[in-house]
Amino acid sequence: MGGLSERISKWVKSTQFYRAIFRHGYEDTPRNRALTTFSNVLYHLHPVKTRRESIKLRYTWCMGGTSLLLFVILSATGVLLMFYYVPDTRRAYQDIKDMMMVVSYGIIFRNIHRLAAHGMVFTVWVHMTRVFLTGAYKPPREFNWIIGVMLLMLTLLLSWTGYLLPWDQLALWAITVGTKMAAATPLFGVEGPFGPELGMRPDNDVKFMLLGGTEVGQNALLRFYVLHCVALPLLVVVLLAVHFWRVRKDGFSGPL
Ligand code: HEM
Repeated sequence: MGGLSERISKWVKSTQFYRAIFRHGYEDTPRNRALTTFSNVLYHLHPVKTRRESIKLRYTWCMGGTSLLLFVILSATGVLLMFYYVPDTRRAYQDIKDMMMVVSYGIIFRNIHRLAAHGMVFTVWVHMTRVFLTGAYKPPREFNWIIGVMLLMLTLLLSWTGYLLPWDQLALWAITVGTKMAAATPLFGVEGPFGPELGMRPDNDVKFMLLGGTEVGQNALLRFYVLHCVALPLLVVVLLAVHFWRVRKDGFSGPL
């Protein structure tokens, strides 16, 4: 029996289909074992060699990992919320109310989504603080620090774009204030330094681009919805892939 299963396993591992997916490791040699580790996407999240001290909780605070966990929770609950929410100014407010009062478990998933969003802003800041305090931003990790800054910006932009979606008074005025600030951006805002000199007008500056108009209305809601649910999460996923790849390639920093 043992011989048969061994032969079947050998045959499966010799097929082109299997080898196309698992490129290394079908022959148990030291070289293949090393290649399996190097190329495996799960092992890939961590460097091949890691000092014990570098992954201690008291060193990393596990804040990068917690940020990732919260991002996964946000994506899962966000998809569930999308089943009940329509980005239409005539419906959005009522949809959120229904989610809280009518839809089964709606209140739980909305609150998990909201709390996780607050939590992620917090954990990403703390993660960045840890990286700064331990000097992990120094060479050879300076490129990953830049990727991290982009991730921080995206995390804040995700929170900000999500803010408009409930279409209540808080949302409306928060985005009104935020986009007015955008109008004061240097170079790209009509009220910003050198904006008018570069040809910025109320109908072509960065505020106009964000709102799809000059005030917060249907176009703005649709833009924020697409940014919040598709564009920004996709960008985060791409940058996280680069971030983790660098964590592995640069190797963990660690206490001296
Ligand atoms: C979505 C946000 C982010 C996620 C999910 C994330 C995730 C992670 C994870 C899991 C690690 C492995 C070590 C650890 O957990 O501490 C890590 C390392 C690192 N992160 Fe982030 N990170 C994010 C944002 C940032 C930000 C905002 C910065 C800095 C501006 C940053 C800079 C770094 C650097 C330099 C390392 C290497 C640290 C070392 O080797 O000790 N990351 N990140």
